[in-house]
Amino acid sequence: MTGPFPRRARYITIYIMGQEYQVPETLTILKAMEFVGYQYKRGCGCRGGICGACGTVYRKQGDHTLHTGLACQTVAEDDMILAQIPFFPANRADHGGVDISLSPDEQIATLYPEIFRCVGCGTCTRTCPMDIDVMGYIAHFKRGDVMRGAKTSFDCIMCGLCVSRCPANISQMNVAMAARRIAAGQMTPRSESTKNRAEQVNAGRYEEMLAELGQMDKEELKTLYVEREREPDLSLPGEWMPHDQSKL
Ligand code: SF4
Ligand code: SF4
Ligand code: FES
Repeated sequence: MTGPFPRRARYITIYIMGQEYQVPETLTILKAMEFVGYQYKRGCGCRGGICGACGTVYRKQGDHTLHTGLACQTVAEDDMILAQIPFFPANRADHGGVDISLSPDEQIATLYPEIFRCVGCGTCTRTCPMDIDVMGYIAHFKRGDVMRGAKTSFDCIMCGLCVSRCPANISQMNVAMAARRIAAGQMTPRSESTKNRAEQVNAGRYEEMLAELGQMDKEELKTLYVEREREPDLSLPGEWMPHDQSKL
């Protein structure tokens, strides 16, 4: 047992990769692992359920069910036997390239033909910590509706937990990421404003401003940052403009 033991805390027993530890109750798995001395260099990012780096599998002693969760969001329980999943291997969409002469749905079917092996068990949907209808988006891809599948999967944090449970060996998250890229790159109209801004950047519009910033010391930069005009939270597109528009 390691770590500064808080007084009056109640302790529970957990098993991390087979090793028994006592940790105060109420800690998340991530904090419990740090409490016993693990230092995160990988397998942890945001600590807020967004980056997907901390996928974890666990059982409860005496319970046949294999559970999954994010280490930063799941509270450690007595008799939990757990291991973090570092990464789930998948075929990369860029391996061999994407044939953009094919239609978007054919591209997905060519890159990831295993989607047609989906047996509709729903395990992926039940596993997803983001409550995404994973089976649903795979079904959209099977039907050729790339845009709908891309939108359904939009909140995916790439934790890999659905992949870890799929009996058809599908890497749902990678299929969905390829679909979102295809949807954005090939099926969405080009933004005129982005195109215009890219032209301004290439024509050197911001070079002088960047050079000015490069001359400032740390304190000046901090002041500039703190005193900048900020867009109000939740303002709708086109609703807000800064008073000083000289740098737009
Ligand atoms: S779809 Fe899969 S990889 Fe994405 S958040 Fe859900 S479980 Fe994680
Ligand atoms: S876990 Fe695999 S086989 Fe089951 S519904 Fe999801 S994608 Fe299909
Ligand atoms: S550390 Fe980012 S989701 Fe857990």
